[in-house]
Amino acid sequence: MSHETPATDRPLTTALAEAAATAGHAPSVHNTQPWRWRVLPDALELRVVRDRQLAATDPEGRLSALSCGAALHHARVALAAEGWAFVVERLPDPGDAELLARVGDLKRVEADPDAMRLVQCMQVRHTDRRPVGDEPVPTAALGDIAAAVAAEGARLQVLNFDQVMELAAAASHAATVEAEDSGQREELEYWTSRAGTGTGLPPEVLPEQAQQTTVPGRDFGRPGTLPIGPGHDRAAAYGVLFGDEDEPDSWLRAGEALSAGWLTATRLGVSMVPLSGVVEVEGTRQTLRQVLAGLGYPYLVLRMGIADPAHAGPPHTPRLPTEQIVDTSAVRSPGDTIAG
Ligand SMILES: Cc1cc2nc3c(=O)[nH]c(=O)nc-3n(C[C@H](O)[C@H](O)[C@H](O)COP(=O)(O)O)c2cc1C
Repeated sequence: MSHETPATDRPLTTALAEAAATAGHAPSVHNTQPWRWRVLPDALELRVVRDRQLAATDPEGRLSALSCGAALHHARVALAAEGWAFVVERLPDPGDAELLARVGDLKRVEADPDAMRLVQCMQVRHTDRRPVGDEPVPTAALGDIAAAVAAEGARLQVLNFDQVMELAAAASHAATVEAEDSGQREELEYWTSRAGTGTGLPPEVLPEQAQQTTVPGRDFGRPGTLPIGPGHDRAAAYGVLFGDEDEPDSWLRAGEALSAGWLTATRLGVSMVPLSGVVEVEGTRQTLRQVLAGLGYPYLVLRMGIADPAHAGPPHTPRLPTEQIVDTSAVRSPGDTIAG
């Protein structure tokens, strides 16, 4: 520890381990949590875990990179909230594609109050797949969410009525294509029957019956136990998260933008649900590209709405234990317990 660091402060490596543990709250496709952190004496490394990438549904790794990007943004916010400034190198080693980011050059600064608020949002943010009620999302809130996305280098296009109809047709087609693919069906079956493992989707977070919505949500292939309530999604707003490139580093940044937008939505009381089926299927991803009218490459569709306040939503989806996602072996002396 530097002699300039106030005595009350925790060592840097503890802060890094805690930020990595906090990043475990991040959303990920099918709750795969495809990330692993390594705490070094003066840096934090983020790696994608290919074993938890969806080989059939996400062969290019677009969704796992988005998920890891969300975790990276969570860790960045957690560090800023603890009063650390740092530099992030994305894909720092061309010879090591699994090393997605290195957070280094850490310096003590004032704790960032906005980041502190977002850390609180991390603890409450969750995916609520119930149809949303009839209250529209305030335009100002959509503007704030889009601004949070743009600040991370991606963009959010909120769709007009005609574009929502095109999205509905594309999402429905994507669902049919995926239902016919045995590899994807098996993958869904695997990630929806992982009770007790800390990964995957338990029945409590999946709707108990198909929803009568204009844009279909993902068909998880089995009913859950989440009561869907009376909503119809008529007042939902749909956005496409997109950017200029369709490459791994833009997917990572898009994940950071997803996290920034979703945490902002949480702060504003807006429920957000990613709909990735339409980007998983090549043909419907191209349709979505046309919907964007050449503005860029689509990464993810987001449903935004005001969740039913009268009925309890789903519980939090479980997470892997910290020891399985944060490797502190490089900074631990024998006999130490794992921080975070
Ligand atoms: C890249 C990405 C794609 C996702 N796609 C979908 C989807 O198509 N349908 C859905 O209901 N949830 C989707 N989710 C939400 C995840 O299932 C959810 O984040 C995960 O299960 C963890 O739960 P939590 O968000 O409640 O913490 C997606 C999340 C991410 C990050």
